[in-house]
Amino acid sequence: MGTIEDLDAYVAGNSARFVDELKDFIRIPSISAEAARHDDVVHAAEYLKAAAEQAGFTKAELLPTGANPAVYAERIVDPSLPTVLVYGHYDVQPADPKQWASPPFQPEIRDGNIYGRGAVDDKGQVWMHLKAVEAYLRTGHELPVNLKLIVEGNEESNDAPFADLVEREKTRLAADAIVISDTDMFSKDVPSLTISLRGVAQVQATVHGPDTELHSGSFGGAVGNPVAILDSIIASLHDADGRVTVPGFYDDVLPTSPAVTDSIAKLPFDAATFAREAGNVPALGGEKGFSVLEQLWTRPTLEVVGQGGGYQGEGFQNTIPRDATVKIVARLVPGQDPQKTADQIAKAIVDAAPPTVRIDIDSAKGGGRAVVTSTDSPAIRAASSAMHDVFGKPVLFTGEGGSIPVVETFGRVLNLSAALVGVGLSTDGYHGPNEKFGIDRFTNGIRVIGRLWNQIGAELAGPAPQPVRVAAAPPVRDIGM
Ligand code: BES
Ligand code: MN
Ligand code: MN
Repeated sequence: MGTIEDLDAYVAGNSARFVDELKDFIRIPSISAEAARHDDVVHAAEYLKAAAEQAGFTKAELLPTGANPAVYAERIVDPSLPTVLVYGHYDVQPADPKQWASPPFQPEIRDGNIYGRGAVDDKGQVWMHLKAVEAYLRTGHELPVNLKLIVEGNEESNDAPFADLVEREKTRLAADAIVISDTDMFSKDVPSLTISLRGVAQVQATVHGPDTELHSGSFGGAVGNPVAILDSIIASLHDADGRVTVPGFYDDVLPTSPAVTDSIAKLPFDAATFAREAGNVPALGGEKGFSVLEQLWTRPTLEVVGQGGGYQGEGFQNTIPRDATVKIVARLVPGQDPQKTADQIAKAIVDAAPPTVRIDIDSAKGGGRAVVTSTDSPAIRAASSAMHDVFGKPVLFTGEGGSIPVVETFGRVLNLSAALVGVGLSTDGYHGPNEKFGIDRFTNGIRVIGRLWNQIGAELAGPAPQPVRVAAAPPVRDIGM
């Protein structure tokens, strides 16, 4: 049998074990945002390192960063073969068990899906890469490319430590292509590759009023209320058309890439389905004058992701709160600088405050720039043909509203445009309760990756030589008929 038939048979015959191993990986609560989980984070890194070795990677090791370690492993088959770098992250978002049908770190299979924090983002999609390597080697086939695997532990909380590692280790990470599985397909019936990611900037601000909570009758009316003032500041950050009012916010926005505009025109998007999948919202909102996909993929946004202040317990305490805090995340499009945007937002908040309160900007930091990838790199061509083969349909391009800041870092430091070959779905519950990953997509993802390595070698060898031209005929004059 050929390599691909062998791979498919191996995946079919071993998928139950693959899922069991993934469950063990998910059981390790590697939440990078919680300092108390540091031991679990390191445990997840070690579990992954051992699994990479078992799959057939050599030289697996933990690379220290200023924060959590990254796992590096490689399989260098032959220095004359092209080399592919695979990136992913083993850290996960926090999870509030109260909102989950089954506990986030006790994975469970229901209706063909594996439920658990990290199932799709990104432990499940990292696992596909390990299992594709295992499938090659256990069926007696050597990899058709050299592989380098780098899986980090801070993607969900702080991009700086890993960005520094990329700069420091650029020789070790050098490759001919980068493949990342940490994104979605357009829908389960529409295979697609992601060609754009938004950037991100974050601001946290606190409004301080009186030194202490005050009786809301004895003082109310004369003393400014930090919660109400914060709410009016937040409300002032958008106008009635849903545009961000922060001065300078849109100044550097570049025109949308034609590849993204073109992808939007070709995709079968249905707003009613989207509204249902977006948690049954009564109606869609956002910036007027743009379609939903334009809003998500081509426009910058400013979102309040958290807000606190005042008495939240049972009944009423009837006090004027002493302070109120807001967390804001802006999503950016090409042209916008993350730090500049964070500073603009911070300034707008300070400027909007009345003299009755004092504002502290707790932090205002840029997380990463937006990126638009190449639509015609060797890795994209290989991924497209691999996905077409597995899903049986032509592959479209999509944008993505979320962010993977390191994609821009890789582009700048390693001079490579990543292929974003994800098989998640927007309904998989990234970051929310009941995160899941369809087992069919997990196994199909392994099959896609196996095919991708097969194709990419040929693609990276460059275009087939052009046939030699013989005595070209003189050009025909356009006579304007
Ligand atoms: N994998 C996600 C990005 C993503 C989300 C891709 C949804 C496709 C669909 C990634 O792990 C992520 O969550 N990124 C963060 C970055 C932030 C912490 C700087 C994000 O987008 O919020
Ligand atoms: Mn992710
Ligand atoms: Mn994530």
